[in-house]
Amino acid sequence: MKLLKLTINGREHTKAVSSSMTLLDFLREELNLTGTKNGCDKGACGCCSVMVDGKPMLSCLLPALEAEGAAITTIEGIAKGNELHPVQEAMIEMGAIQCGFCTPAMVINGVHMLAKNNNPGDDEVKECISATVCRCTGYNSIEKAMHLAASKMRRAAHDGS
Ligand code: FES
Ligand code: FES
Repeated sequence: MKLLKLTINGREHTKAVSSSMTLLDFLREELNLTGTKNGCDKGACGCCSVMVDGKPMLSCLLPALEAEGAAITTIEGIAKGNELHPVQEAMIEMGAIQCGFCTPAMVINGVHMLAKNNNPGDDEVKECISATVCRCTGYNSIEKAMHLAASKMRRAAHDGS
């Protein structure tokens, strides 16, 4: 066991963890942050994506101890209080959530994509979505949700300028 110190959704945590524990298990089992999903536990489905220092990563492949000192954002850290992120709003408005298992990772990847570029083309949106397997929606509604979120963010940026 080693001491792990990191920041999750803006809060510092220090805990003893074994070298075999993944970041995914650390989040779900040690911190009860169960929004991050375990779809395959081997890097194939994308459902475990979280942001590590601002970049989406598969938490099932990352040993927790390798996240020492990192700033992690999980789906629990995306809304600001009661205010949903535009990607979350758009996913609801477009009916892009069915069982919801893939949704946290879709949102994490969408938030990352739109933070870099709030006017993505179809290809960029498709690439973003393809990082996560969805067994329910057929992806069309998720694609539409990402475009809707982008337009919400452009409008907000315009209104704020
Ligand atoms: S649970 Fe990590 S990629 Fe599937
Ligand atoms: S909504 Fe069910 S897996 Fe995507």
